[in-house]
Amino acid sequence: MKFQEIKNNVFYCGLNDTERQIFDELIPLEHGTSYNSYLVKGSEKIAIIDTMYPPFTSEYIKNLKENGVNKVDYIIANHGEQDHSGSIPALLEEYPDAKVVTNATCKGNLMSMLFVPEEKIIVVKTDDEISLGNKTLKFILAPNVHWPDTMFTLIKEDNLLCTCDFLGAHYTFEDVFAVPSEELEKSAKRYYAEIMMPFRVMCKKYVQLIKDMKVDMILPSHGPVHKDPNYILDLYTDWTSDLGKNLVLLPYVSMYGSTEEMIDYLSNELNKKGINTLKYDIITGDLGDLAMSLIDGTTIVLGTSMVLAGPHPASVNIAYIASVLKPKAKFASFVGSYGWGGKLFDILGEILGKLRLDVIEPVQVKGKPTEETFKQLDTMVESIVERHKSVGLL
Ligand code: FEO
Repeated sequence: MKFQEIKNNVFYCGLNDTERQIFDELIPLEHGTSYNSYLVKGSEKIAIIDTMYPPFTSEYIKNLKENGVNKVDYIIANHGEQDHSGSIPALLEEYPDAKVVTNATCKGNLMSMLFVPEEKIIVVKTDDEISLGNKTLKFILAPNVHWPDTMFTLIKEDNLLCTCDFLGAHYTFEDVFAVPSEELEKSAKRYYAEIMMPFRVMCKKYVQLIKDMKVDMILPSHGPVHKDPNYILDLYTDWTSDLGKNLVLLPYVSMYGSTEEMIDYLSNELNKKGINTLKYDIITGDLGDLAMSLIDGTTIVLGTSMVLAGPHPASVNIAYIASVLKPKAKFASFVGSYGWGGKLFDILGEILGKLRLDVIEPVQVKGKPTEETFKQLDTMVESIVERHKSVGLL
């Protein structure tokens, strides 16, 4: 495979993984993913920025050889996670004179996760530079987008910024340059939801930093290269904003239809009041869709049946996932139905409590919803309307 040139002797040397169906064993992938690696040929030295996921190491090194890469001086590790750093030991065997360039935090990760020898590592900090002759690599530490060890690498003379996982997408391609589309946007959003949303505040900061840098292109470590940096930066500006949309998320699990009836009623009544809703069947839904909706939702009403004396375990799982993804939602409540007794919402409230949401009075019913239940749901609707008005969404 001949490497595609991005600009002035900067080449894409990564690989597509079209078969991969799930990432982090958590969120399904709709389009596989790519593990991006960049070859930078300076007049005197050669650098590789980020490497390869271990199962693809042989193909990766074979491609480097076929493209005439017989010498590598620097391997830049922007991040220690193994989908990008996993091939470093093999590269060091193939190119024994190469040094690994990374930050102090990532150094520790490379040594403990991959046994990279300490003497092979050069530690850099923000604004440090290394020269490749007619090209200069400049480093910018960007902790917590998404690991504490993350950094960006600027190829200075070409004004190309390698942002590692930040601004990426689980997406595959033939041509490395992004072609904006609904599918690419959705993949980037799904990726942001799973990987970056817990670090929303840091993401917001780095979006502004990169906007101010006015780089020519963004080269992430998954998904296509952005020739138009504003395409992905504008999407991130929306996703990282402090206030969600006029949207209530309604994830639910319903064993005999009563909880679903309550969710349907809420959805209809909220819509009548001008509030958008998104129902999500926890059992059959795609977790990535829910994660994406958590980027936008301002209120979450979690619906659950009771199993034995507590909430359905599937609803507990969703509450936990929401609590770790740290969405920007401000308000929450619960609805549900039980058969013979127990505590329906206590565990859910405890888990979601980590998000410090303003909790609206929940509604539960024994068996099927009654006239009284619908009155209580009407009160919940009024409370949600008031809350959305209070933050300027209505
Ligand atoms: Fe794509 Fe955090 O690794």
